[in-house]
This record gives sequence, C-alpha cells and structure tokens, in this order.
Amino acid sequence: MIIQVCVGSSCCLKGSYEIVEFLQKAVADNHLDADVTLAGSFCSGRCNRIGVTIFVDDDVYTGVTPDTISAFFNEKVLVPLNAERK
Ligand code: FES
Repeated sequence: MIIQVCVGSSCCLKGSYEIVEFLQKAVADNHLDADVTLAGSFCSGRCNRIGVTIFVDDDVYTGVTPDTISAFFNEKVLVPLNAERK
C-alpha cells in the first residue's frame, strides 16, 4: 500500500507535516513498514478549506486533518490490510 500525503502549500497550512508524523509513528507502531510506503505528493489541485489531500493507492481523500487522521488510518489502512491478511 502506498500512502501519499500532499505537501503542497495549501495542505501544509492545514497540517500535512503533523499528519506525516502521525503516519510514520502509526506505521512503525503497527509494524507495517513492509506493507506501507509513505511518500509526499505535490498539489493535485484538490486543495480544500477543511484539510489535507491523501492518496491511498489509487484512491484520493480530501479534507483529512490532524484531528481525523487517527480514524482515517484505522479505516483506510488498518482495516484493509487486516482484511488482506485473512
Ligand atoms: S496543496 Fe494539497 S491538493 Fe493542493
């Protein structure tokens, strides 16, 4: 799984770096280093007023914030990876 966090200027203002830090720690804490690749992405033109744009493989999500990244990680990363393992 490849997770790309937008580090364009609009997303940075809404917490990209906090989100990247959260994801780095969450991936390590859940021993997912072999399953998840974290990367940055440039602005894809999906900037919005609420939060940050994140790509998970081919899916794109907008409006993710430092307050919602934990739930996002559970729903979009942990649950699908655990389902793949069954
Ligand atoms: S700055 Fe992130 S989508 Fe534009």
